[in-house]
Amino acid sequence: MSETFFKGNMNKILLVLIFSSIIHFASANELSNYSGPGDNKDGYNSKNYETNSLSLSDRKGKSADLIKFVTLKQLGLPELVIPENNPISRKKIELGKKLFFDRRLSLNNTMSCAMCHVPEQGFTSNEIRTAVGIEGRSNLRNTPTLLNVAYNKFLFHDAREYSLENQVWQPILAHSEMAMPSFGFTLKKLELISGYKKLFEEAFPGEGMNMITFGKAIASYERSLVSANSPFDRWYFGGDETAVSNSVKEGFKIFVGKGNCASCHSIDKSHALFFDNKLHNTGVGYAESMGMLNSKKTLVQLAPGEYVEVDNKIIQSVNQQKRKNDLGLYSITENPSHRWLFRTPSLRNISLTAPYMHNGIFGNLDEVIDFYDQGGFDNELLSPLIKKLNLSKIEKVNLKMFLESLVGENIDILIADALATPVGDLTKNDPNWANKKDMGYNE
Ligand code: HEC
Ligand code: HEC
Repeated sequence: MSETFFKGNMNKILLVLIFSSIIHFASANELSNYSGPGDNKDGYNSKNYETNSLSLSDRKGKSADLIKFVTLKQLGLPELVIPENNPISRKKIELGKKLFFDRRLSLNNTMSCAMCHVPEQGFTSNEIRTAVGIEGRSNLRNTPTLLNVAYNKFLFHDAREYSLENQVWQPILAHSEMAMPSFGFTLKKLELISGYKKLFEEAFPGEGMNMITFGKAIASYERSLVSANSPFDRWYFGGDETAVSNSVKEGFKIFVGKGNCASCHSIDKSHALFFDNKLHNTGVGYAESMGMLNSKKTLVQLAPGEYVEVDNKIIQSVNQQKRKNDLGLYSITENPSHRWLFRTPSLRNISLTAPYMHNGIFGNLDEVIDFYDQGGFDNELLSPLIKKLNLSKIEKVNLKMFLESLVGENIDILIADALATPVGDLTKNDPNWANKKDMGYNE
């Protein structure tokens, strides 16, 4: 486990520290020029560190016609089922995308969806274990990727939601995320921002802007973030023997054989979602509940080569939210046998979406593989599918190479498109912004 990660929650003051306690994530895949933090932080642990920042001009981006990723089949994925009541359209995708990048959808106009689901960081946040919302408010869980999210039967780590259209409102209203006070107030504010009303009317003729169409628009953008046709897919489903190395092929054997990974991260004859639409106890939640993952101190990196050890009690004392026991599905059903059950995530694009698990406890794939090799964290409800594996060093390397072969072909196109999208922000040219208006309360 990477020690330089911040353990647990933190408040505003500590937010500054988090951003300086950045851990190193090498840009994970040669295919992806855009992926990873702007600076890959190579050598950041040394006082002699020199920045590796990409120049901003390299990150300008380029718009893409995203609808083709929904309508055209990509090698490795089954056909996408689109809800009958929300047929996909270019106008909806474009509107949803605009909303996704609009910081005015948060109470204090600072936080957009894209600030946690960061496009160039695998549509998650690579540099923090658990999400941080407006005013540095801490969340219990790691931000899941939105790549291929349209295929998920269950949403959230505890599977408490099922439709993208419905899901949208949770982060908007959550106190620790975007903190809008109500559905109505959010819509009222949007109406005051010039342009939105018209875009809603064009995307949803006869319906216009309302709670339902708001969800439908963002869901349409999310649905377009489909990414497969990875080197693995081109080899396994496409029959191209040159698409991957021998190590990847060997790693795949471990994945479906000795490693038993595919019993949960499923593979079908014609496609592979790498999940089984079920929840399992791998012991990660249990270990967290029992305090097994807590060290007394957290090593925090302040600057290149500069570290301090902070007592976890101090960190916890300034938490916004008191860390409560995360019991997974139990918190939804209150069925005791559901304690510590978490949803099986897909493994597509996995090398782009660190850190891993519902609480972001593992910083890289080596740590995840070591965790499975040792048989997860033992507990009375541990899934019988998780056992000690006794993998050799080379087997672990091959397994990792296989996982790294799952990066979709169009990743750079999706990121470039996101980078080309203007961020919705308060500007002087935006005279309608809500805070200056009376919002109709005393008129
Ligand atoms: C403060 C960071 C943050 C913001 C802002 C945020 N999210 Fe999330 N998102 C998360 C976290 C954390 C989870 C997982 C929560 C859980 O499992 O309880 C999540 C889960 C999701 C999921 C479920 C994905 C899955 O595979 O289960 C979707 C979809 C999603 N967010 C979309 C959005 C949209 C749309 C917005 C903007 C309206 C948004 N998020 C804003 C952090 C954030
Ligand atoms: C019993 C079912 C099961 C088996 C077997 C299993 N996994 Fe998982 N896997 C899960 C679940 C459930 C999670 C999510 C756990 C959490 O969020 O706490 C997960 C998470 C992961 C993650 C992190 C995903 C993310 O986005 O955070 C990786 C990587 C992973 N598994 C790889 C593997 C590999 C490699 C193997 C074989 C060595 C394997 N898994 C075996 C169920 C399983």
